[in-house]
Amino acid sequence: NAMLKWQRTGFHFQPEKNWMNDPDGPLFYKGWYHLFYQYNPDSAVWGNITWGHSVSRDLIHWLHLPLAFVPDHWYDANGVWTGSATFLPDGRIVMVYTGSTTEAVQVQNLAYPADLDDPLLLNWIKSDANPVLLPPPGIGAKDFRDPTTAWYDAATEAWKLAIGSKDQNHTGICLIYRTNDFIDYELLPGVLHSVPGTGMWECIDFYPVSTNSEVGLDTSVPPGPSVRHVLKASLDDDKHDYYAIGTYDPVAEKWVPEDVEADVGIGLRYDYGRYYASKTFFDTAKRRRVLWGWTGETDSEQADLLKGWASVMTIPRTVLFDQKTGSNLLQWPVEEVESLRLSSRDFKNINIGIGSVVPLNISRATQLDIVAEFEIEGKSLTATVEADIGYNCSTSRGAAAAGRGVLGPFGFLVLSDQDLSEQTAVYFYVARNVDGELETFFCQDELRSSKADDIVKRVYGSTVPVLSGEILTVRILVDHSIVESFAQGGRTCITSRIYPTKAIDAAAKLFLFNNGTGAMVTAKSIKIWQMNSAFIRPFPLEA
Ligand code: FRU
Repeated sequence: NAMLKWQRTGFHFQPEKNWMNDPDGPLFYKGWYHLFYQYNPDSAVWGNITWGHSVSRDLIHWLHLPLAFVPDHWYDANGVWTGSATFLPDGRIVMVYTGSTTEAVQVQNLAYPADLDDPLLLNWIKSDANPVLLPPPGIGAKDFRDPTTAWYDAATEAWKLAIGSKDQNHTGICLIYRTNDFIDYELLPGVLHSVPGTGMWECIDFYPVSTNSEVGLDTSVPPGPSVRHVLKASLDDDKHDYYAIGTYDPVAEKWVPEDVEADVGIGLRYDYGRYYASKTFFDTAKRRRVLWGWTGETDSEQADLLKGWASVMTIPRTVLFDQKTGSNLLQWPVEEVESLRLSSRDFKNINIGIGSVVPLNISRATQLDIVAEFEIEGKSLTATVEADIGYNCSTSRGAAAAGRGVLGPFGFLVLSDQDLSEQTAVYFYVARNVDGELETFFCQDELRSSKADDIVKRVYGSTVPVLSGEILTVRILVDHSIVESFAQGGRTCITSRIYPTKAIDAAAKLFLFNNGTGAMVTAKSIKIWQMNSAFIRPFPLEA
């Protein structure tokens, strides 16, 4: 039981107890960040879905408020499901969310704050016009959910919002509606985009990114020479969040991916680990786009019921277009998380010999922020070297000796006990692709992360772009049962849930390792911060 208690995180957002899933309607209002989320107030498994509600000054420390929405009308009796917030130019806020009706039909509903003078937005009014949208002809009654934040299209003088679905051929689709008042809607002909074989698109997100600046863009910023649009879908089939960068044409009402081979659902993922149903919002305070993602458990339901809670939100991430590669986004933990950094230790030029494991002497290893740079000795990444042809994190044997190649795996072992009987590897692996070019992979191996037998354990990961002259860099946030890792400044990200039985508290250690057979690796620099816990508790409301 001490073990179960230990799994609660120190600085990641969690409700006090019970089940949480998708982030909903994130927004910034009168000095407060608001996070709503799918929440079961009665149990640690999914059901009775309401909207939990918490507020923060800095996206790190949180106060839990009373539930924002509960299923109290026929049009949301089966659950107040996912939705998004939109700010109107006159300062009003509209929340459009999916209700599962008494008949389990998915409909869209409108709600708005009862008092715009209340910075905490405690009370919400559901519109008398609800439901405002029913599944259109040809769309399944259970395939019509999770409306996006709306954007204003000045050309047609209308608000538009997107809703994901699938057609009869299992093609994932994105529907677009236009509206003036959020009560009456017109379904626009055709679809914004579709990808065969990808199935139901949940939790669509659609937003502009700047290709020549480091600021985020308001959702209504129109397409232009230095603006691309990101389309993201959460695939119900495989429970991963896929995005693609493309061009939006609001007149034709079409979005076209820049790289058709990396289209939505078949290309890039926000995160290659346990990460789903994410949603961005534009933070007007810091002019940045912030991404929230849900990280579910990978232990058994039985264990969740025992511990009385399930799910964590990842640390919110800023999202930028990667101007260097031009082909991916950069995701990075919001800068506010750095306010939790306590004492730090620096290491320089540590050689990690072939087949070796090097302990890193730090006081505690359960709440950490790690940044590191690696170099493969004597061989520049662009030089001609012997390297394995073809690699795939997920189908590989992971970081163990059985998964050895020439230039990898090497990296960190986090949440490891002294004799490495439990360990989670965060590593790089350099291989050749079919064209003979060197490619760098970034992976996370959970296979030995826990001795418990009710855990789903995987090797996660993908390629990460490394441009010529760049050194390999990684950042890792460790927080009891979650490990969030970012390679090359956030080009490739991996989140894991970890349930050690031995590598807990003072027994948790940190190591470097190199299981490659071909070269010594040098950790050029490592900085490790102990992380403080965040203040996350109920708001002291008067009775
Ligand atoms: C995604 C999802 C959404 C739905 C909500 C219900 O995880 O299935 O499609 O609105 O969760 O809780």
